[in-house]
Amino acid sequence: MRHFFIFSCLISLLSAYFHGSGHNSVRGGSCADFLHKNHMTSCCLGRNDECYMIHFDTRCYCDQFCGKNSTSDCCPDVIREHNVNKCPAKAGICQRNGMVYQNNQRFMDNCNHCRCKNGVVKCKNRPCLINPDLLSEINGSNYGWTAANYSFFWSKTLEFAYLHYLGVTLPSYRQKPLSSDFSGHVQSSYDFRKEPYFQGKYPNGIKSQGMCAASWAFSMMDMVTDRASKYSRKPMDRSPSVEQLIACSSINKKRNKCSSLSVDQGWLSAQNMTGIADTECYGNRDVQSGFLFTCKMKSSTCPGPANSTKKFYVSKAYPVWPQSKSIMKEILMNGPVQMVFKIYDDFFMYKSGVYSPSRRAQSFIRNQYHGVKVLGWGSENGMDYWLAANSWGPDWGENGYFRIKRDVCSTEIGKHVYGAWVYIK
Ligand SMILES: *[C@@H]1O[C@H](CO)[C@@H](O)[C@H](O)[C@H]1NC(C)=O
Ligand SMILES: *[C@@H]1O[C@H](CO)[C@@H](O)[C@H](O)[C@H]1NC(C)=O
Ligand SMILES: *[C@@H]1O[C@H](CO)[C@@H](O)[C@H](O)[C@H]1NC(C)=O
Ligand SMILES: *[C@@H]1O[C@H](CO)[C@@H](O)[C@H](O)[C@H]1NC(C)=O
Ligand SMILES: *[C@@H]1O[C@H](CO)[C@@H](O)[C@H](O)[C@H]1NC(C)=O
Repeated sequence: MRHFFIFSCLISLLSAYFHGSGHNSVRGGSCADFLHKNHMTSCCLGRNDECYMIHFDTRCYCDQFCGKNSTSDCCPDVIREHNVNKCPAKAGICQRNGMVYQNNQRFMDNCNHCRCKNGVVKCKNRPCLINPDLLSEINGSNYGWTAANYSFFWSKTLEFAYLHYLGVTLPSYRQKPLSSDFSGHVQSSYDFRKEPYFQGKYPNGIKSQGMCAASWAFSMMDMVTDRASKYSRKPMDRSPSVEQLIACSSINKKRNKCSSLSVDQGWLSAQNMTGIADTECYGNRDVQSGFLFTCKMKSSTCPGPANSTKKFYVSKAYPVWPQSKSIMKEILMNGPVQMVFKIYDDFFMYKSGVYSPSRRAQSFIRNQYHGVKVLGWGSENGMDYWLAANSWGPDWGENGYFRIKRDVCSTEIGKHVYGAWVYIK
């Protein structure tokens, strides 16, 4: 169906544009403008609803029927199709991005509220999470990675993203790394998912933290799952509950909602609990909304003193020596690690490739960190990278994973790396 608004073309004016014949030739002023803008030389075929120019407050179609036997451009097409012959211009309407808005109409432009007021659009000017300019700059440049417009991030502000999708701070004190500088030989690439004992399957799927700003907990539990797999030499069919970790530890002072915690406090929380049950017992559903929740088991049959079902136990965590080879050795020996790095605005739009901040990338809130699990490394087009699992669901990045350039100062990648001993009992 064609939608159009009250027609306002001035036939006498437009007919002055007449030239040429045949329905595919470029006719008339507004039609010619449309074709020019879209790098086209002839009108669209058929009744193509996408093929129009905004002319005052109406759409002038520029398909093969436009001005077919009239002496002007596309507008007579609308007249003939819709049996209208007059189109008084309406006062106060606005146009923006090909849309027409009535006077006083409110609408959203990406993350900003807008209003049409007497023909003028007024919008708030908050920085948006999906920045179309930055997006096309990244895709059009040679950064080694591409960006995408994620529908679940569209219309969100950058501030919202920093407040709800991250959630970890650096340790409150300096702890001496357990490992030391390692300079021996390490293989050039590795992917924990390809370990033979996984037999090609990787049930420890990508987590979705939703609006739960607690990446400290998600990255920890991801790491704990993998290390439990490595320890038992078989894939885990369950992972420890993030909800229980957040809500039930006496160390976490803000345990009734998702909030940022320092790495050391996070690990202390896990250590302080007498085992962490799996997500069957304390599902993640409530956690994702980021709202209040309580330390409550889903069912009475869940692990407890009377139940022999296994729970995950975590030792004191240790920082890994902040140098690539030492981190690799740690991953090979003990399994994936937790890595905390600095966030730039463009990271949210990462789709594929090897990430490093683009030239224009800034940080809406400075010195914000994100916790992820690092499970491998490699090189692509001369760029060394870490392979990491994020917690923004499987639709983000490379099926929930991403690769980030190693040894980049601005992101502090490889500087804040943590391991812990894990066992199931
Ligand atoms: C368009 O052409 C048809 C048939 O050729 C004719 O009957 C009609 O009057 C024409 N309309 C205009 C607006 O010229
Ligand atoms: C950028 O490139 C990626 C990968 O090719 C693609 O998925 C995405 O849609 C592109 N985005 C834009 C705005 O071109
Ligand atoms: C991004 O995606 C949203 C929803 O999926 C869409 O409405 C919007 O037009 C897209 N923006 C750009 C710049 O591609
Ligand atoms: C756990 O935390 C509580 C309260 O801070 C403390 O009394 C207790 O000793 C801790 N337990 C362990 C095992 O760290
Ligand atoms: C222990 O928990 C498992 C899984 O929730 C359940 O199947 C089993 O019946 C429980 N056992 C006891 C003794 O409660």
